[in-house]
Amino acid sequence: MRVLVTGGAGYIGSVVTEELVKDGHEVVVYDSLYKGHRGAVVAGAQFIAADLLDGERLRRAFREAGTEAVIHMAADSLVGESVTNPAKYYRNNVVAGLALLDAMNECEVRRLVFSSTAATYGEPEKQPIEESDPTTPTNTYGQTKLAFEHALPWYEKAYGIRSASLRYFNAAGATAHCGEMHNPESHLIPIILQAAAGTRDAVEIYGEDYPTRDGTCVRDYIHVVDLARAHILALDILDERSATYNLGCGGDGYTVREVIDAARAVTGREIKVRVGARRAGDPAFLVASSARIKRELGWSPQFQDLSLIIESAWNWIQHHPQGYAE
Ligand SMILES: NC(=O)c1ccc[n+]([C@@H]2O[C@H](COP(=O)([O-])OP(=O)(O)OC[C@H]3O[C@@H](n4cnc5c(N)ncnc54)[C@H](O)[C@@H]3O)[C@@H](O)[C@H]2O)c1
Repeated sequence: MRVLVTGGAGYIGSVVTEELVKDGHEVVVYDSLYKGHRGAVVAGAQFIAADLLDGERLRRAFREAGTEAVIHMAADSLVGESVTNPAKYYRNNVVAGLALLDAMNECEVRRLVFSSTAATYGEPEKQPIEESDPTTPTNTYGQTKLAFEHALPWYEKAYGIRSASLRYFNAAGATAHCGEMHNPESHLIPIILQAAAGTRDAVEIYGEDYPTRDGTCVRDYIHVVDLARAHILALDILDERSATYNLGCGGDGYTVREVIDAARAVTGREIKVRVGARRAGDPAFLVASSARIKRELGWSPQFQDLSLIIESAWNWIQHHPQGYAE
């Protein structure tokens, strides 16, 4: 298939691109590089450095490549920033998203896989979270992703654009070529590995008095390759229907302390910890159920093991101590 990946120079988008290329698809990466890295774009994919709001460039990209499907990864995704600067999030996650849909419609591209987020659920009443649970986001990031999701059935009804929205929490891990490099880094595993590598003094734990196994918050981590495979698998249903799927590790998830201990074992390094106060709005448990996508699409994560996830991220850091050279 001829697929355009928005945000394909970012962390997850680069791995989606890598897996698509491996499968023999023709891939165009469309990324402004405002956050991503040119060095993250895998060989074998065409690269276009442009913003989604540049509708003319986007339509030209679709026409020149004969695009048949879009995997939409480009977004802003910092929870804290989304609350202090909602305008930025509405512009990039909603307005730019609609610009993408409009260009798709004009160019008759009728298949979309949307990288949404489990932040659409807010503070869920039960765990693990299922797709049928209420969506009541508690931050602008989750709200803007949900706003874009809400447009999708209407674009399908009127213009025939089918979509699969994938909701998940924490992507983690790396491939040999593609790893996680955000600035600022807000994700736990890279932060822990920075402490292991000595580029960060310590890991802060926000509260250890939660009603969990060891008092620290329980979260959900999925290997980035398993996420990428789910995005590619979701392309297959779009000839027939639209859908929404969670991607989660299910089960008991992992506490913050369990992640730190696993990282100590994998790296063999001392990792200093500082225990601080709880952060406002951090639920004790956030774990998504993958039962629906397993049942309906046969998604079967290959790296659902915390040590494997951490080991792959650690290997990437060892081989890319400065991140992507650019
Ligand atoms: N990282 C996670 O744990 C996680 C969890 C759930 C959902 N997601 C979603 O997955 C997607 C990718 O996340 P990531 O961690 O890889 O992010 P990332 O910041 O590494 O990648 C996003 C990419 O999109 C590009 N981009 C952003 N706005 C653009 C625009 N208007 N035009 C063109 N390019 C633009 C950036 O330059 C960057 O390369 C996001 O949509 C995010 O909401 C991520």
